[in-house]
Amino acid sequence: MQNKLVFVTLVAVIASYLEYLSQMKLGELFGILQNVKGSGLTIGKPAFKVFTYYGVLILVLPITRYSCSLEQSKLDGDRRQNLRSAAYKQIMQLDRKYHSHISSGQFKDAVDKALGLVTLFNSLLLDLIPRSITLAFASARLYSMYSPWVRLLMFCGFLLSMVLEHRSFSSAVPKAEKANRQYYIQESQQRNGLQGWRTVTNFSRKDDEVKQYQKEIHTWSELLESYYSTTSMFECLQNTMNHCLLLFAYYTIMCGVLKDSDQMDHFIAFKGLLFTLLGNTSFFASYPRTVVRTLFDANPLRKIMELRIEKDEGDTLKVTEGEIVYENVSFSYPGREKKVIDGLNLTIAGGSHVALLGPTGIGKSTVVNVLFREGELSNGVVKVDGKDITKVSKESLYYSLGLMEQMPVYFERSAREIIAYGKPHATDSEILEACRKACIDELIMSWADGLSTKIRKDTCSGGELQRIGLACVFLKKPAIMCIDEGTSAIDSITEACLRAHVAEFSSTLIVITHRLSNAVKMDRIVYFGDGCKILEDGKHEELLRLNGHYAKAWRINMGKERPDDLKKESR
Ligand SMILES: Nc1ncnc2c1ncn2[C@@H]1O[C@H](COP(=O)(O)OP(=O)(O)OP(=O)(O)O)[C@@H](O)[C@H]1O
Ligand SMILES: [Mg+2]
Repeated sequence: MQNKLVFVTLVAVIASYLEYLSQMKLGELFGILQNVKGSGLTIGKPAFKVFTYYGVLILVLPITRYSCSLEQSKLDGDRRQNLRSAAYKQIMQLDRKYHSHISSGQFKDAVDKALGLVTLFNSLLLDLIPRSITLAFASARLYSMYSPWVRLLMFCGFLLSMVLEHRSFSSAVPKAEKANRQYYIQESQQRNGLQGWRTVTNFSRKDDEVKQYQKEIHTWSELLESYYSTTSMFECLQNTMNHCLLLFAYYTIMCGVLKDSDQMDHFIAFKGLLFTLLGNTSFFASYPRTVVRTLFDANPLRKIMELRIEKDEGDTLKVTEGEIVYENVSFSYPGREKKVIDGLNLTIAGGSHVALLGPTGIGKSTVVNVLFREGELSNGVVKVDGKDITKVSKESLYYSLGLMEQMPVYFERSAREIIAYGKPHATDSEILEACRKACIDELIMSWADGLSTKIRKDTCSGGELQRIGLACVFLKKPAIMCIDEGTSAIDSITEACLRAHVAEFSSTLIVITHRLSNAVKMDRIVYFGDGCKILEDGKHEELLRLNGHYAKAWRINMGKERPDDLKKESR
């Protein structure tokens, strides 16, 4: 890679130098021809010699440029690939807390925009370095060829060009920033509309969504227009100034040629060099703007790349019993003052099946989430088989845990790939056995492509997706399994069948459910109140005898009692 970079830069420098030489030779040739015309002599050897020299130069030039662009395109591909894979590696390794703030669309935008860095790097190798060298040669040559006035003129031109570019830069960059921000707004408007297309349709809001998008995109194009009008105005000013300088320079040289016709070759060479110089000066002057713009575009990815990846350090957790202990645990979500868990003390014996119940929003899922080390505890410790889970590697922790949530997120892959995700080399018979336990085997085998059928959220029912998710955790056979409303979309008969299979588990099992029928056969039911305070703890029959919160919830679940609010309303 390093050698290739040196090679490409060297070839670009050579190509640039050949271009400069060809201009000089052309000037020389015209000078000779002018002398021949004036003296009436036939075209002599020197003219042919210079012509051949010039011809060789301009024929070698495309070949040099070709070999340069060939290598450069390979390097370009490598660099793009490296940037994309480094960004993907980073985002995949980031902690859960970051993933809730960065959507896949935002990440893709950030990567796409940052690819400008690759182009910038190319222009550094293929433009900036070679052009600087050419500029140095051309300036030295001009310096030796012309009067101090012309030199001064060139210098002033360069300075003025820089000043103008600086002005253009300072007025254009804030506009570019605004346009960029608006770009993200219109993108997210479009993405939300597409992602939520069904919701938009069901609420008859298509026209509103389209109008809003049109409004955002209109604002974006207005901001872009304002940015481009500023930059083109300065470009026009720059060009006008350059042409004025050119006129002066030509005038001075013309006077020189009129006095001494030998200066004709200088005139032609000057013309070529001047264009090289003018092109280069505006390139150099605009380079800082290009750099800042590119860095600005790369900012979102830079921020992602700067996020700290926590090292997955700690001992390897080897779960034997599967005992879980919450010791005086307190937890609140960032930005929210309320403690969702406030001093929880709970021991779940290894291999036991426990149901966590309580009103909605009380913190049941949070109790499971802290077991997955989601967020930091404000107090206390969670232990698995006596080991503080913050002291073991996350990799080994997740290996021992299995989680099935209400809305399992699926990849758009085949049923086989999804179910075997937790056990990558599982055989089809193992997969089908897991499907049988999840009561989804018959359905999958009835599909034309069987296990090879691609699963998509919109082509499977909610209950089917949940059962596929269950098959996945069943196949993984984690030492500790958590099912958080994982059967909420499944009918009661299939759910009863599932319950029978789940009851066979020897692993520790935590079930969070609002359907109390799922808790009846559990070894233990824990009923949470505010702050995840344990209000009741025991078996189904014991809690019914207690006649407290659980018994009341049970009666309401069975339709034997009406909730208090409804009682008040009916009074
Ligand atoms: N990522 C989060 N950031 C901030 N607050 C959150 C987050 N997740 C949950 N909460 C809040 O924490 C509280 C407990 O949420 P949790 O999901 O644990 O409740 P739950 O008992 O599982 O409810 P449900 O029965 O409805 O599933 C709620 O008030 C919720 O709004
Ligand atoms: Mg929940």
